[in-house]
Amino acid sequence: VRSAVSRSSSSNHLLTRTFATESVPERKVAVLGAAGGIGQPLALLMKLNPLVSKLALYDIGATPGVAADVGHVNTRSEVTGYMGEEQLGKALEGSDVVIIPAGVPRKPGMTRDDLFNINAGIVKSLCTAIAKYCPNALVNMISNPVNSTVPIAAEVFKKAGTYDEKKLFGVTTLDVVRAKTFYAGKANVPVAEVNVPVVGGHAGITILPLFSQATPKANLTDDTIVALTKRTQDGGTEVVEAKAGKGSATLSMAYAGALFADACLKGLNGVPDVVECSFVQSTVTELPFFASKVKLGKNGVESVLDLGPLSDFEKEGLEKLMPELKASIEKGIQFANAN
Ligand code: NAI
Repeated sequence: VRSAVSRSSSSNHLLTRTFATESVPERKVAVLGAAGGIGQPLALLMKLNPLVSKLALYDIGATPGVAADVGHVNTRSEVTGYMGEEQLGKALEGSDVVIIPAGVPRKPGMTRDDLFNINAGIVKSLCTAIAKYCPNALVNMISNPVNSTVPIAAEVFKKAGTYDEKKLFGVTTLDVVRAKTFYAGKANVPVAEVNVPVVGGHAGITILPLFSQATPKANLTDDTIVALTKRTQDGGTEVVEAKAGKGSATLSMAYAGALFADACLKGLNGVPDVVECSFVQSTVTELPFFASKVKLGKNGVESVLDLGPLSDFEKEGLEKLMPELKASIEKGIQFANAN
């Protein structure tokens, strides 16, 4: 009797395992900058994601501790910490998604562009390694200024001969997260039901929330829309000032980064109708990169969606943001080609 029981339970176990492997494929996610303010909570949130089977945590320092800590959480993925450039290749090898929150954050009085000199170099060297060790991975760029770091990444990949515009994403999800939160507060609707597309770029006036397309609909005054738009554009600065020298958004950014990576993984796994806003190569405007709604699929970007109907206020905002966004994109391209 005992042996029959054990046989049946072991075959059940096998059945469960087969089923689990078939329905949820193996996926490796690497976080570069994993010991930082964003990297640590992002590592935890990715550890909680059942779509991840391997989680590689890379930083120039402190990753063994973060990996040991996060690795004790009893969820699916196996966690490994990698520290220092000589371990970067191992961290990247076999990755399906690489999330990059490496670099320095803003302090009060700084714009995202002030970070350019340090972060551009970091992004360039990390992308050179991605081209070498996991050229097919989807890259989620968090490091600022996103308006320039995404074009830098594209240039690095082009030079290495690995560029696939479907696989490079500037993470603008935090702008969407903020727009949803602020809209729900003013429109007095349940925040979980809110959708607001945010287009353009990821800095100041280049962030253009489309509240005219927000759902559930609410009759907000023009003044309220103007205030909501400004608060979304200045959301990062609101956090930088409140943190008073101790950095920029980390917890809400980790949440937003985890949401976007989850959408990428779902797309890779063939889940239909996964749509998120992201700063990608685009023909939606005359600029080579632009944030708008993107449909995610098995190869990354499946399609870049149009902006849809804009209000006069949004049309004005779009016109105003174009020169600044164009300059930031060109600055990134120039940096990549000059260094
Ligand atoms: P942090 O300074 O707390 O952490 C950055 C981490 O990057 C550190 O652990 C550091 O050791 C690591 N790092 C530096 N050089 C590296 C390299 N070459 N390779 C690997 N790791 C390296 O900064 P925080 O607050 O985590 O911010 C990170 C970046 O994210 C900043 O550029 C910040 O502006 C950006 N950010 C982007 C947002 C977005 O919406 N896309 C929102 C908030 C921040």
